[in-house]
Amino acid sequence: MPTPDLSAIEAALATVKDPEIHRPITEIGMLKGVDISGGIVTVGVFLTISGCPMRETITDRVVAAVSKVPHVTEVLVELDVMSEEQRAELKKLLSGGADDREIPFSQPGSLTRVYAIASGKGGVGKSSLTANLAAAMADMGLSVGLVDADIYGHSIPRMLNASTPPTQVEGMIMPPTGYGVRVISMAPFKPGGVTQPVAFRGPMLHRYLESFLKDVYWGDLDVLLLDLPPGTGDIALSTASLLPGAELVLVTTPQAAAADVAVRAGTLAAQTHQKVAGVIENMSSFPCPKCGEPMDLFGIGGGSLVAEQLTEVLGTNVPLLGKIPFDVKLREGGDSGHPLVLSDPEAPASLAIRAIAEQLGKRPRGLAGLSLGISPNRK
Ligand SMILES: Nc1ncnc2c1ncn2[C@@H]1O[C@H](COP(=O)(O)OP(=O)(O)OP(=O)(O)O)[C@@H](O)[C@H]1O
Ligand SMILES: [Mg+2]
Repeated sequence: MPTPDLSAIEAALATVKDPEIHRPITEIGMLKGVDISGGIVTVGVFLTISGCPMRETITDRVVAAVSKVPHVTEVLVELDVMSEEQRAELKKLLSGGADDREIPFSQPGSLTRVYAIASGKGGVGKSSLTANLAAAMADMGLSVGLVDADIYGHSIPRMLNASTPPTQVEGMIMPPTGYGVRVISMAPFKPGGVTQPVAFRGPMLHRYLESFLKDVYWGDLDVLLLDLPPGTGDIALSTASLLPGAELVLVTTPQAAAADVAVRAGTLAAQTHQKVAGVIENMSSFPCPKCGEPMDLFGIGGGSLVAEQLTEVLGTNVPLLGKIPFDVKLREGGDSGHPLVLSDPEAPASLAIRAIAEQLGKRPRGLAGLSLGISPNRK
């Protein structure tokens, strides 16, 4: 009876990615060994920590990949745990050998586009839109990270169903994933669970945000989104200082009162020297379910007003990126952890969010400061 080929099995294992590190297990020291006995293949896998929450996913992925190799009749997976030396090696590999980690997104060669989703008033839909934008971008094939920078009022893990506690390897935090989006939030770091309040002063908030950016293994991201708390408080200022290249996306409702406050929040960008990528009007008019007439629950025109006023104040073009209609299903999707853009991609709100995700996700990245990857010939 023909037996499976070892190199074919190794090639299959090279396609298996760790669900948190997003790199092939063969590249990151997780493959312990392969044993072939007739058609039965036993694969030894090192987990990063004992009790790793991803062990079942990893096992399933190994079985699925190796089963496809010709002549394999059965796949067995034997799990082991990395030693401290192996974990230290892995940390070195992931951090590119650097001991003192810097924020990768503020390095001159960073290719990641960073958007901070901000608003003047609270409750205008920043978190709901950030979660849906992130899910839409991941669905477009981009690699996306999301920092729930609302340390007191975190809400993203529920919206993206990403509440698994992060795995930690030698102080490096592996973010859980929801719908392909890598998510970090204050929620899993509170011993008292989600209902425990967070009472921090500014410096502590700053330290947490810095740690979310520095100690989390983000891997190569196309886009990083930050869901900010409302207003121009500590976190907005810390974001500006930790991520000077982050562009602001301002969310407002169509209401004039909300728009005024949003203009004030956007004007902060002039002081912090940040760019404003654009304005999103949320909870815009929607067709009445009974008669089809447009309903303007929160007034009209706030989004264009903010875009026009900021263009004037900042002296650069601040576009209105789009208008998201009021839709009860968007709220329900947030509560149940099923983003509307995925559960009902044809809903008008989903189409509007997807159009913004296209604009923000596919913008050309500036080449200033990029390394060309060539070195001078010193012969
Ligand atoms: N387009 C929409 N249609 C219907 N409901 C919406 C829409 N956008 C947001 N909501 C709902 O409005 C409420 C506030 O939204 P969300 O929490 O996203 O706002 P926020 O700006 O992040 O609030 P905070 O300032 O407290 O962080 C939520 O219940 C959300 O489900
Ligand atoms: Mg919020």
